[in-house]
Amino acid sequence: MGKISAAITAVGAYVPEYVLTNQILETLVDTNDEWITSRTGIKERRILKEEGKGTSYLAIKAAQDLIDKKGIDPKTIELVIVATATPDMKAASTASFTATEIGATNAFSFDMDAACSGFLYGMSVATSYIESGRYKNVLLIGADKMSSIINYKDRATCIIFGDGAGAVLFEPNDEGLGFQDEYLRSDGTGREFLQATYGGSSYALTPEILEKGGQYAFQEGKTVFKNAVFNMADATFKILERNNLTIEDVNWLAAHQANKRIIDAIAQRIELEEEKVMINIHKYGNTTSATLPLLLNDYESQLKKGDKVIFAAFGGGFSWGAIYLKWAYNSVN
Ligand SMILES: CC(C)(COP(=O)(O)OP(=O)(O)OC[C@H]1O[C@@H](n2cnc3c(N)ncnc32)[C@H](O)[C@@H]1OP(=O)(O)O)[C@@H](O)C(=O)NCCC(=O)NCCS
Repeated sequence: MGKISAAITAVGAYVPEYVLTNQILETLVDTNDEWITSRTGIKERRILKEEGKGTSYLAIKAAQDLIDKKGIDPKTIELVIVATATPDMKAASTASFTATEIGATNAFSFDMDAACSGFLYGMSVATSYIESGRYKNVLLIGADKMSSIINYKDRATCIIFGDGAGAVLFEPNDEGLGFQDEYLRSDGTGREFLQATYGGSSYALTPEILEKGGQYAFQEGKTVFKNAVFNMADATFKILERNNLTIEDVNWLAAHQANKRIIDAIAQRIELEEEKVMINIHKYGNTTSATLPLLLNDYESQLKKGDKVIFAAFGGGFSWGAIYLKWAYNSVN
């Protein structure tokens, strides 16, 4: 028998009902639809408005969508990983609450945080558990309530981010489909350009800091933009080269949805046709850990068994990389 590979066998997703349009943002900060659309490609994002509901609410809904679609018994899930930069609380993990709420009572669970690269890194972890033969059903969820760390008076950040969640199930595959290769990196010198600083162990969230809005995310957009384009394109090139793939071999690029111009610039650098580039940033904005599974959910009906998919992400840390995966099933819808 050949080597066991780890394949995605189901996808689920959830976005909140409330739609924050560019027109509504025009009433909150000094901005306009034309600027936001031309600079980012974003038209609207979803926001979880209900009091007291956090990231676990999004994660649970996405996982339940997957469970219903696939018709699985949640008791068969052995591990639940929640990639998130906005956990419900510092401790205990969002994943343990999520796992119990969805009925995955035979699973262990933990959170992972790598900012916008959280889901990509999570794929590396989830597939490793399957490839080792240790577990056969791993649920990976990417979920973020970005609105909980966004200052809706800061036009540099509030136009970009949204809330959402997506989930995928990894199972063993003996046809050589699923995960093929990864190139993952991080660089701590980048953290000064993109961070939510206060509330951690080095930077206390004092009343004075709260007064100044220190609980919110901050970014130096231009530096992040340049690094995102260079590093996602570079990681993708490395993956193509290492796997003897030409760009014609690639069926899909699933890149982190941070800015349409970043995605276009990567596609241009690697010379990939527009039709092969997954896009939904216009609907959801940047949902951090949720962008990649939300793409898979939106494109699931177009994905074919054997399709070669390149995932790429970049985020705070800095953190970035690319993963090459062969899609393992044809959608029944
Ligand atoms: C944030 C981002 C959209 C800003 O676009 P940009 O083209 O770099 O714009 P700049 O920040 O240089 O600002 C250009 C001008 O627009 C203004 N501006 C900034 N935000 C604005 C807004 N929402 N509406 C209108 N004008 C705005 C700036 O004040 C600046 O004005 P000035 O020239 O008079 O100083 C872009 O840098 C970006 O997407 N960066 C990456 C973000 C990202 O990916 N973050 C998540 C990481 S995974």
